[in-house]
Amino acid sequence: MNIAIDGPAGAGKSTVAKILAKKLNYNYIDTGAMYRALTLKAIQEGVDFNNTNSLVSLLETTKIEIIHETVFLDGKDVTSEIRTPEVDQKVSITAAVPEIRKEMVNLQRRMAKNTNVIMDGRDIGTVVLPDANFKFFVTASEEERAKRRFKELTDKNYEVDYEYILKEISKRDKLDTKRKVSPLKQADDAIIINTNNKTIEEVVQEILSYIKGEAIM
Ligand code: DC
Repeated sequence: MNIAIDGPAGAGKSTVAKILAKKLNYNYIDTGAMYRALTLKAIQEGVDFNNTNSLVSLLETTKIEIIHETVFLDGKDVTSEIRTPEVDQKVSITAAVPEIRKEMVNLQRRMAKNTNVIMDGRDIGTVVLPDANFKFFVTASEEERAKRRFKELTDKNYEVDYEYILKEISKRDKLDTKRKVSPLKQADDAIIINTNNKTIEEVVQEILSYIKGEAIM
């Protein structure tokens, strides 16, 4: 069984996917974390983000693994390091490079083979796992998503400004939806889950009701 969860930044995909994976005993794969890990390495190595070839060759010498929700970059745990505002700002550039996407998609498909997975990202239902048993498109308004991201960062003691976060979310949405390769897009057969004004548990229950066949699609 494969479950695909797509949607824009800050919609609550990963929080919900993690809970669902525990409840259903599936492997959770956060594909955004893979693009983030490569972005982190590019920042650390001072790679010029305007130079696509450098980003592509960086991937050739990079090992990215996700083991039980821990993200490893060349064997080092980078789970929290990939969530800094600097990575947020640059990751859409890395994720828009066709050669990088091709490699990541291959890797993601291999991870989903022979095991039950719940995978979240932007192109899971459309490109990575087009035959997924369930596809959900989890979304929320820009303001709601910015509020959540603001809280997440301030909880981690980052000094951030709400208006700045809102602008960044909006910019990232544009980059993710307008890029040429695998843009963020709802799959034709995806179920839309709007998370505005809903608690995490409510969203989890809503998705579970579809998986258990209790809700009408
Ligand atoms: O879900 P996230 O915010 O951690 O994703 C980080 C970035 O990676 C986001 O800007 C879009 C990109 N991404 C993507 O293009 N395709 C995916 N399957 C997952 C993430």
